[in-house]
Amino acid sequence: MEVYNDININQLKSADTSYPILTLLANRWSPRMFADKAVMRRELMALLEAARWAASSSNEQPWRFVYAFRGSHAYEKIFSCLSKFNQKWVRNAPILMITAIKEQFNSGKANYHALHDLGLAAGNMAVQAQSMGIALHHMAGVDWKKAQELLGVPDGFHVATAIAVGYYGGDPSALPDDLEETELTKRDRKPLEEIAIEGAWW
Ligand SMILES: Cc1cc2nc3c(=O)[nH]c(=O)nc-3n(C[C@H](O)[C@H](O)[C@H](O)COP(=O)(O)O)c2cc1C
Repeated sequence: MEVYNDININQLKSADTSYPILTLLANRWSPRMFADKAVMRRELMALLEAARWAASSSNEQPWRFVYAFRGSHAYEKIFSCLSKFNQKWVRNAPILMITAIKEQFNSGKANYHALHDLGLAAGNMAVQAQSMGIALHHMAGVDWKKAQELLGVPDGFHVATAIAVGYYGGDPSALPDDLEETELTKRDRKPLEEIAIEGAWW
């Protein structure tokens, strides 16, 4: 495997966009290897603050984040809820989080947009993180039932994802071979015409 330095990896991962977009967005990617550098509590709080200011249906703010720093008992609990696949790489992340949504509006009606709003909050967090040289890696590979139980998630809330947080700049060669290869593969996307439809869908 060719050896890349941080700058080359970030260049390789930068999006080839069909139209110019914010550099922050083009350069965001989801590493599985993070730099050997702690993310400070105040830095994490800036990420959570960015999430806090996302838009949400009826300003309900249905998102919740349970976070833990590496070395803590809580980190091990979150780790134990992740899929075998995610456990292969995630331990080098200085912070792990579980995200959850509140399933109903305060009125008691089902909030069908709660996941949407959590996504907006996670997007805010990703942009804030990018501006600080910090990367997020979202994970659907979570045993949500175990997480509900182990982390004391109350009734009415549903675990959605996990997020690994750390600085960009990890050494991909420390990953298992298959993951090292993905780490060094260019990002790609469906063409814009496939996802953006003018007028009506026919
Ligand atoms: C909701 C969500 C769930 C994901 N679940 C996982 C996961 O369980 N494990 C993993 O390694 N990556 C996971 N990813 C990362 C995606 O594979 C990644 O975002 C996608 O391949 C695009 O790559 P990029 O973020 O570098 O552009 C997830 C991403 C999102 C948004």
